Amino acid sequence: MSKTIVAIIGCGTIANSAPIPAYVANPDAEIKYFCDIRKERAEKAADQYGCGEAIEDYRIILEDPEVEAVSICTPNNCHALIAIDCMRAGKHVLCEKPAARTYEEALEMQKVQHETGKTLNIGVVNRFNTGVNIIKKMIEEGELGDLYHVYVSFRSHRSIPGLGGDFTNKAVAGGGALIDWGVHFLDIVMYCAGDPDPKTVTGQTYSKLGKDMKNYSYINMWAGPPNYEGTYDVDDFVTAMIRTAGPSITVNGAWAQNIGVNEMYIDFLGDKAGIRLQYGADFTIYSAKHGALLESNPKFAQTDQFQNEIDSFLSCIKSGEKLPSHIDTVILTAKIIQAIYQSSEQRTEISFVKEGALA
Ligand SMILES: NC(=O)c1ccc[n+]([C@@H]2O[C@H](COP(=O)([O-])OP(=O)(O)OC[C@H]3O[C@@H](n4cnc5c(N)ncnc54)[C@H](O)[C@@H]3O)[C@@H](O)[C@H]2O)c1
Repeated sequence: MSKTIVAIIGCGTIANSAPIPAYVANPDAEIKYFCDIRKERAEKAADQYGCGEAIEDYRIILEDPEVEAVSICTPNNCHALIAIDCMRAGKHVLCEKPAARTYEEALEMQKVQHETGKTLNIGVVNRFNTGVNIIKKMIEEGELGDLYHVYVSFRSHRSIPGLGGDFTNKAVAGGGALIDWGVHFLDIVMYCAGDPDPKTVTGQTYSKLGKDMKNYSYINMWAGPPNYEGTYDVDDFVTAMIRTAGPSITVNGAWAQNIGVNEMYIDFLGDKAGIRLQYGADFTIYSAKHGALLESNPKFAQTDQFQNEIDSFLSCIKSGEKLPSHIDTVILTAKIIQAIYQSSEQRTEISFVKEGALA
């Protein structure tokens, strides 16, 4: 079988930490281009991995019929434009999360996917996580009983990324803690619960601890250092309640909050058993039997979720299989996130079952 020729667009943090090494490790893929508007980053990747040509304009990729697949690892404001251009040029696309800055942009991407028939997967990498898939199976097989509620907490004392950079600028990122971290947490919930249709959403976002940039205290800053000349106009805290055709969901998430202990977990609450999943780690099952309260910690071999994601993307291009990370499923999370922002702005509940709500 011939190798799939791949191009990487955006050679920053995530590209170097996950997708590029995963393509290099897959014997069926060959990276032909590293593209970044900061050409030195593309050149560094080409040097480091000993393959590919460094370019700064992704339109070169569009014109090269040899390229079958692209990984989009740029900031959120370029996702829709580049993904749409690539699909229209006949390329299969794996686009980093979130799908886009807004639900409308994600819908446009989905529309072009349907028109062109090219693959469009979003980097909701937890769908390729071993523990998450075990939980999904347990829920599907009724081991939790009736899954009636899911509680989501992703709260940190001080974790605002790159203050004044791309992540804290709404025009670039589309939002803050909710769209950047919340997208992963909500995606796990939706996946494990069988992607239930959202019915109503109410939420409130806050921009409190980061907006006075010079007085923001921190110890470490990912995606830093701060740029005090930049913009901070995104949420650093979100609280929300979502009713779906399946379980109800409550969300509390913060890049920064005055709390003692960081909390990164999801509680799946069934009437027979409950599960607490520690984000990116193991899970615990809680139940009761014969008057005893039971707690168990399943042991299993974790696999590399990023490698699984890239391997699955490459094989679905050949097989035509629709992966769980397809835009058709991920679009629901984009809809919920937009509704939380809309609910917060309008200080009202957003309903998908009444007239006048988002389609
Ligand atoms: N899946 C995950 O868990 C995960 C983790 C981190 C980041 N991400 C996502 O990945 C994306 C990138 O995040 P990052 O932390 O790597 O950011 P980054 O700033 O480190 O890297 C982005 C790169 O894209 C380049 N770029 C910008 N516009 C471009 C264009 N038009 N053409 C080519 N290159 C362009 C920038 O110069 C930069 O080098 C974001 O959407 C983010 O949400 C996903």
